[in-house]
Amino acid sequence: MYKENLLAKTVPPPDFRTQYGPWAVVAGAAEGLGAAVATELAQRGLHLWLVDHETDRLAETADRLAAEHAVAVNPQPLDLAAPDAARAITDALDGRDVGLLAYVAAASTIGPFTAVSLAAHQRTLAVNCSTPVNLIHGLAPAMCARGRGGILLFSSLAGFQGAAQVSTYAASKAFDLVLAESLAAELEPLGVDVTACCPGPTETPAYRRSAPQIRPSPTMTPEAVAARVVQRLGRDRVVIPGAANRFGRWLLAGLGRRRAVDLVSRTTLRMYPRRPGSG
Ligand SMILES: NC(=O)c1ccc[n+]([C@@H]2O[C@H](COP(=O)([O-])OP(=O)(O)OC[C@H]3O[C@@H](n4cnc5c(N)ncnc54)[C@H](OP(=O)(O)O)[C@@H]3O)[C@@H](O)[C@H]2O)c1
Repeated sequence: MYKENLLAKTVPPPDFRTQYGPWAVVAGAAEGLGAAVATELAQRGLHLWLVDHETDRLAETADRLAAEHAVAVNPQPLDLAAPDAARAITDALDGRDVGLLAYVAAASTIGPFTAVSLAAHQRTLAVNCSTPVNLIHGLAPAMCARGRGGILLFSSLAGFQGAAQVSTYAASKAFDLVLAESLAAELEPLGVDVTACCPGPTETPAYRRSAPQIRPSPTMTPEAVAARVVQRLGRDRVVIPGAANRFGRWLLAGLGRRRAVDLVSRTTLRMYPRRPGSG
């Protein structure tokens, strides 16, 4: 069985607010997993800087969290695909003390590689790869300087191997996974925890909109995924929420890379029968 705690630290984590407060930036916070992560952080007393391109839903989520928790909540409407998105966030933060970056948002491209527009592939790279790198580059120096902080990047089970119909998305999630692992090795000695979350199918609005034709494995709720990963922050470098997902990952790892790619591709082709499209 795949054990997510193989690299677990043996020391208990420090108080959550001390390590990750006072402010957390959550990128992609209006709904789905981002909103669920923001809720977990608010419950632990972090002030929230919430970023999303869905202005109205972002305002609703921010209002709800501010009403339900004794924390400050600031919504920033922004398209994370914009080349200057990270700078827009760090400028707007105006010196606030950010102890945690949770980068949750993703763009996805589903369909045959050549049928998906180049613009959609590029958008996936911008949202899933470039902006997180830029944002970490902007926020991590202050975390390192004060010797505490955290970075949570959302990867996916799709990031462990390639698959037909989701090529650029899967590759971008592999990027996020390896980026997180690399930064964990680099920044942990400086007091900054880095975790990659690799969910399987999760019942979010974005997943529903992707209209999978089959459900390959049990679907988790965003709340269960968020609760698990926030609980493991500072303990595990890679978190796969859900026992069924960890078991599936363990099985695939044992197959060898090529057979795993072919098996997962058969599943993604059944989930998303060949049709051009992009997200
Ligand atoms: N749901 C799953 O089954 C699943 C499985 C494995 C991994 N993941 C990963 O988990 C993370 C969250 O997934 P999710 O299902 O909650 O969907 P998501 O599409 O990442 O949605 C999270 C929030 O981010 C927003 N967002 C997306 N693109 C944005 C952009 N360019 N600028 C600003 N905000 C943006 C979304 O708005 P819109 O929805 O309006 O775009 C939504 O409010 C992603 O990194 C995804 O790769 C999800």
